[in-house]
Amino acid sequence: MSTFAPMLAVAPALASMPGGIFDPTLRVKELEDQLVSMRASLVCAFNQLLDLKDLNTGYHSTRLAEWSVRVAQELGLPESRFADMEVTALLHDIGKIGVPDSILKKPAKLTEEEYDLMKKHPEYGWAIVRLFPSFEHVSHFVLHHHESWDGKGYPGGLKGTEIPLGARIISVIDSFDAMVSSRPYRRGLPMEEALRRLIIASGTQFDPQVVQCFIRIAQNEMSSVFAATGTSTTVVL
Ligand SMILES: [Fe+2]
Repeated sequence: MSTFAPMLAVAPALASMPGGIFDPTLRVKELEDQLVSMRASLVCAFNQLLDLKDLNTGYHSTRLAEWSVRVAQELGLPESRFADMEVTALLHDIGKIGVPDSILKKPAKLTEEEYDLMKKHPEYGWAIVRLFPSFEHVSHFVLHHHESWDGKGYPGGLKGTEIPLGARIISVIDSFDAMVSSRPYRRGLPMEEALRRLIIASGTQFDPQVVQCFIRIAQNEMSSVFAATGTSTTVVL
């Protein structure tokens, strides 16, 4: 029997109760609120999973979420899309849960076979996120966040505007964040060098419009951006 069948069976009786517990507008609002709250809980739970696997840090995901919304605003996306951008920023690498630790944490260069396995993470992520209620857009952004503007990315080899805009935004800000963040084995680049590299890859790896937009934000909000990354605007730490 369906999980929902018992609830459906009692619904008509509840609706006809004196005073009618169903003011249809209130009920819809209540259900919408529940859905929003369930989505938020799911996102938090999966974000915790990423933390447990040591696949991101609080700062990393928070600043990506902030930047993704700022870029979406600057590009004129409707406000209704901002939540999707935040969720994509938080969960874009969730599929790495399916990649063995020996590959994720390997301190040396990956072999070809290992790299092929690593490249599966957008598809694994899509398979997880598509099961969340009303996350269809997000699942596509997750699936395509390693596509390249020139068609040389993966998994689909999509080109230019074939790549969903949400995925193009994540691609730029995630790459920038990776460049400026320090790792145990290397120091983060100064912002100006990271921006220079974004410009070089604009039109090949990255959507030029997204790069231009992000650079404007980074330059105008340099201090807050770099307070968030914990790195320097000009000096290699
Ligand atoms: Fe990724």
